[in-house]
Amino acid sequence: MFLSMIGCMRVLPYGTQSISFSDKLKIFRSFGTGWLTCGPQVQEFEEAIARYVGVKHAIAVSNGTAALHLVHLAIGYGEEEVGITSPNTFLASSNSIIYAGGRPNFSDIDSASFNINIDTIDPNTKNLKTITPVHFAGLPINVKKLKEKFPNTIIIEDAAHALGSKFHDGEEWVKTGCCKYSLATIFSFHPVKHITTGEGGIITTNDDQLADMLRQLRSHGMIKPNGHPDPWYYEMTELGYNYRITDFQCALGLSQLKKLDSFIKRRRQIVSLYQSAFYNIDGISFASEEKWQFNSYHLFVLLIDFEKFGMLRSEFMNKLKEKGILTQVHYIPVYQQPYYKKHFPHNEADFPNMEEYYKKAISIPLYPKMNNSDVSRVIKEIKNTLKIS
Ligand SMILES: Cc1ncc(COP(=O)(O)O)c(C=O)c1O
Repeated sequence: MFLSMIGCMRVLPYGTQSISFSDKLKIFRSFGTGWLTCGPQVQEFEEAIARYVGVKHAIAVSNGTAALHLVHLAIGYGEEEVGITSPNTFLASSNSIIYAGGRPNFSDIDSASFNINIDTIDPNTKNLKTITPVHFAGLPINVKKLKEKFPNTIIIEDAAHALGSKFHDGEEWVKTGCCKYSLATIFSFHPVKHITTGEGGIITTNDDQLADMLRQLRSHGMIKPNGHPDPWYYEMTELGYNYRITDFQCALGLSQLKKLDSFIKRRRQIVSLYQSAFYNIDGISFASEEKWQFNSYHLFVLLIDFEKFGMLRSEFMNKLKEKGILTQVHYIPVYQQPYYKKHFPHNEADFPNMEEYYKKAISIPLYPKMNNSDVSRVIKEIKNTLKIS
């Protein structure tokens, strides 16, 4: 993603990276270490993320999809075993269950939070092995409640949208990714996410054995056995992949991480401007935080009743595009994808909230570099397009 111009009008994408001179300097300096990959910056980045979210281990990989793949692979699925996730997500959340030999299943979302509805996940799901909740748009789900309802199911949090989000747990706030109630959490560092490494991802876990296995799997499944007399010797004991991340990417990640809290602060300021502007307008709504949640806001989704406004969503998007404002739809319900219809058919009638959500959802520009006049421009053009006075 990059910012460009239409005539003298600045284009506002729905999301984009914020790269500063200090980020570039950090990448440049990383070349001086002599390491391009598997070097000290990778470990430093892993340790910094682990400290930030409050977890024992962090394992950095080439992207968020690889992170999901490796966790599901390390767990392993028997032939008929099932992994449940939200239909309101990017394909990777459920594809990774298939990569690892599992059967993906979806459970409807909650119409207020747009996250998977814990109350309606079927506890009698046959052969249930894993649940992968997605902290959609940055709003954390109640992982504790999920764990209490499913004490014997492995929970893998997809927090690709939720670095820096928190939930109130008893007396304290804990960060998403601390894995207090889950086996592992994944994050993505794709350019539109809270911080970026270009492409990149990380897995957090408190489980020592899982951490060792993930490190092995991200590099072909190889290990160097302790105390072996031959210095060249390595052994492949698992079928792994090359999912390594480079040192210069991690140098960028380290530099970005320093700015994460200020990025989130700015995201929250922008969201509060949007919320005030679109509050109490008939035909428009959005998810809001509850007292126990701290949303780090990867996305800001408006639900617009396009029928009520007498307009197709595509028309609305195209009109905004002419004004230099780019919007997106997060997400097409995954079960509607042709591949899923063919191989893992689901009945749309089982997802009334997701179906209703999908008709109305639109993500509007949100990224820390937006200034207040950009935000006002987005608000003004949306209201003009919908003919709201
Ligand atoms: C919810 C979710 N999970 C996983 C991913 C995969 O992350 P990546 O693009 O880094 O592979 C994404 C990416 O957009 C995502 O939005």
